[in-house]
Amino acid sequence: MAHNLRLPVLTPDGRPADEQPKWRRDFPIGTSDDNYVARRDFTKFMVLISGSFVAGQAWIALKTLGWAGGGGRDAGPLAIARVDEIAVGQAAVFSYPREHDTCLLIRAGEREFLAYSNKCSHLSCAVIPDVQSGRLLCPCHHGSFDLASGRPLAGPPRRPLARIVLEVRDSTIYATGVEARTV
Ligand code: FES
Repeated sequence: MAHNLRLPVLTPDGRPADEQPKWRRDFPIGTSDDNYVARRDFTKFMVLISGSFVAGQAWIALKTLGWAGGGGRDAGPLAIARVDEIAVGQAAVFSYPREHDTCLLIRAGEREFLAYSNKCSHLSCAVIPDVQSGRLLCPCHHGSFDLASGRPLAGPPRRPLARIVLEVRDSTIYATGVEARTV
């Protein structure tokens, strides 16, 4: 049966409270309060853990969208290849906007260049372009994306690949920004 009865604090040696050592006077928690303290601490602990979990999830979401930690969505133009270095149907790997952000540059046609982050939007495995089938394939869980748009076509991915904005100037292909999309 639930009750709010609090028993008086009993000192272990039976001496009055003002004769107890300082540490015990500072923390006058008796045996009868042990459960109460444990419940209160447990609640604090759960609130702390839940808060950390929520903060961690928010951080991951922001990182995924490139909005945290110097995501560099507008990292400025970067020359990635010359037009004649990539044949139609071929792809090249480059890094943008940061060194560890690997991307794919794909020449889908004579004048058609596409670029995406090569991180699968499911669990970040590296996707592989298959220009013949018009898809980017993820070997980890058989996900696939539309080559022309980067949108998911099959498997577990629900979000499109981040698209790298390209510009061609003087026969050189530049990456100029990252278009993080949620749909
Ligand atoms: S990581 Fe790409 S489908 Fe799971």
